[in-house]
Amino acid sequence: MCGIVGIVGTRPVAPLIVDALKRLEYRGYDSAGVATLENGALDRRRAEGKLVNLQERLEAEPLSGQIGIGHTRWATHGAPVEINAHPHFSSNVAVVHNGIIENFRELRGELQADGFVFSSQTDTEVIAHLVEKGLRDGLEPVEAAHAAIKRLRGAFALAVMFGADDNLIVAARNGPPLAVGHGEGEMYLGSDAVALAPFTNRITYLEDGDWAIVKRDSMQIFSLDGSAIERIQQRSVGSALMVDKGNHRHFMIKEIYEQPEVIGHTLAHYVDFNEQKVALRQESTVDFAKLDRLNITACGTAYLAGLVGKYWFERHARLPVDIDIASEFRYREMPMSADGMSLFISQSGETADTLAGLKYCEAQGQHLAAIVNVQESTIARSCKSVFPTLAGPEIGVASTKAFTCQLSVLAALAVAAGVQRGHIDSERERELVEQLSEAPRYTNDVLKLEGEIATMAHGLANKPNVIYLGRDTNFPLALEGALKLKELSYIHAEGYAAGELKHGPIALIDEEMPIVTIAPHDNIFEKTVSNMQEVAARGGKIILITDERGAEEAGMDDIKTIVMPKMPEIITPIVYALPIQMLAYHTAVQMGTDVDQPRNLAKSVTVE
Ligand code: G6P
Repeated sequence: MCGIVGIVGTRPVAPLIVDALKRLEYRGYDSAGVATLENGALDRRRAEGKLVNLQERLEAEPLSGQIGIGHTRWATHGAPVEINAHPHFSSNVAVVHNGIIENFRELRGELQADGFVFSSQTDTEVIAHLVEKGLRDGLEPVEAAHAAIKRLRGAFALAVMFGADDNLIVAARNGPPLAVGHGEGEMYLGSDAVALAPFTNRITYLEDGDWAIVKRDSMQIFSLDGSAIERIQQRSVGSALMVDKGNHRHFMIKEIYEQPEVIGHTLAHYVDFNEQKVALRQESTVDFAKLDRLNITACGTAYLAGLVGKYWFERHARLPVDIDIASEFRYREMPMSADGMSLFISQSGETADTLAGLKYCEAQGQHLAAIVNVQESTIARSCKSVFPTLAGPEIGVASTKAFTCQLSVLAALAVAAGVQRGHIDSERERELVEQLSEAPRYTNDVLKLEGEIATMAHGLANKPNVIYLGRDTNFPLALEGALKLKELSYIHAEGYAAGELKHGPIALIDEEMPIVTIAPHDNIFEKTVSNMQEVAARGGKIILITDERGAEEAGMDDIKTIVMPKMPEIITPIVYALPIQMLAYHTAVQMGTDVDQPRNLAKSVTVE
C-alpha cells in the first residue's frame, strides 16, 4: 500500500510533508521517510517503524528545502528496515512509490549490468536508477522520467524529484490513487485528498496511465504516449482537521462508540422514517425489479458485510446473490448475466483487488454499484450507482463503524429490492423500516455492556486458539468475530457455521478451547444450542452471545453469557457486531498489542 506525498513549495516543506504523512499512516506504518532538495543537493531522513520515529529523527537532524517528497510504507519487497524505506535515491534522483513493479527483476538485472549498485531490496529502487540512467544518456529530467515510466509494469503511484531542478516533480499513476493539489504558488501531491486538506481543497485526480509534470505554478497531465490530457479540477470535501481520539484510549473504541450515531445517520440516507418507507436517492437508484442476479465483491470485513447482505437480498427480495472475495473473483472468469448488477463494498474505495473485480465487471457490461465510505475514492468514481456509508473517517485499522454502516446500507437496499420486486408489501415495508429505525437505540444499549465484556475478555486473552460459531446471518458475524480477534490480538481464531462444526473442527475442542457462540433467540436457536452442547460435552469453554430468552433456554451451566436486548431479526447482525468488536478490543488491550495499528496490517490495501 504505502502513502506518498510531494510538495513543490515556497517554504520549508519537511514539516508539511510529515503532517500530510500523518493523514496517510492508515496506508502503512512499517517505515517512513522524507527527501528534500536544497542548493542542488538531495538529502533524506528515514526511519523504521511508525511516523513518530521519523519525526524524532527530523527533530534531531532537520531537513531544509522548499521542495520534497515523503512516504509511509507497508512493506511488499524487502523487510521493513531503514535501508528499504523510501525515498530511494540514485545519484541525482529521488523516488517515492506506492504499489508493486512487477518487472523489477528484469529491470534490476539490466541496470546492474550497466553498473548501477542497489542499496535496498525494494522493487522501487529500479525506478530511481532507470531515471538516472536516462539522465546519464543525455535526456532532460522530464524525458528521463517519462522514458522510465513507460518501462514499468505493475501498479504504481509515484513521485520523482531531481537534484538538477528545484521546481519539478514528475508524478505517475497506474492503479493506486494519486491526487494533485493546487495551492497559491505551491503544488502538492498525495495518495488522497485528505492528506492535502491542510494545504488546499482544489484537487485533480490522476487516472490510470496518466503522468504529470508538477511545478510551483503549473501542472500538466499526459498520457503514456506523451499527448496532453485535461482532467477536471474538483473541490474536495476532505476536512483539514485531524481526527482525534477524544477521551478514548484508542481510535477503535472511539469508533465503536460512534456507531449508534453513524448507523442512524446512514440509515436516514436510505429510509424515510416519517413515511416509514425506503427512499433511495435519485443518484443511486437501481431498478432491482429488472435484475436477475446480484454479484457482490469485496475484501476483508467488507466482504463479511456482503455475506450478510446475501442472506438479506435472497430472503427479503428473492434476488439470487453470488458473493466473492475480490482476490479470487478477479481471476475466476465468471460468466455474468446480462441483467445483473455488480456491487462492490469498500470502506476506502481503493482496495486493489476490489478495483480489479470492478474492471472485470465493467468489461462484462454489468451495472456497477458500490457501497463505499470514501466518496472521492476510485471505486466511488467508477460506479454508476453509489451508496454511501456515512461512517465518517475510520482511523482504527480494524474496521468497526464502517462495517455496521455497510450492514445498514445492505439492509435498507434489501428492503428496497424486496419492495421493487414485489416481495414486500407496504405493510411489511413499514414494519421493516420501523425495525431498522431501532438499530441506533439497540446499539446504544449494547455499549453499556462494555465493562462486562471486558471481564469476559480475560477468558480469551493469551489463549492459543478461539472458535466462533453462528448460523444464518450470524455465521458471517462469527467470521468477523474471528477476524477481529486475529488482527487485533494475534490469537489464532476461526469462525464456523455452527452446523459445520461436526464435519471436522470439533476435533479441535478440548478444555482449553474458548468457543464464542452468536445465537439470538430465533427460529434456529435450538439448532445452534445443540451444536454448542456438542462442544460443552467435550469440555470447550463457551461464551454465548444471546438475548434473555436465549440465555434462559440455553439451559447450560458453566457457560458465560453476554445478554443482549431482544430485537428484530433484520437488525441483529448490526447490533450483535458490537459485542464481538468489544470482545476483540478488550482481549487485545489486555494483551498489550497495538490496537489501532496492528502489526503487518494496513487500512487501505492498494496492492494485489
Ligand atoms: C484491509 C483492512 C480491513 C478491510 C479490508 C478491505 O484488510 O485492514 O479492515 O476490511 O482491507 O478494505 P476496504 O477499504 O475495501 O473496505
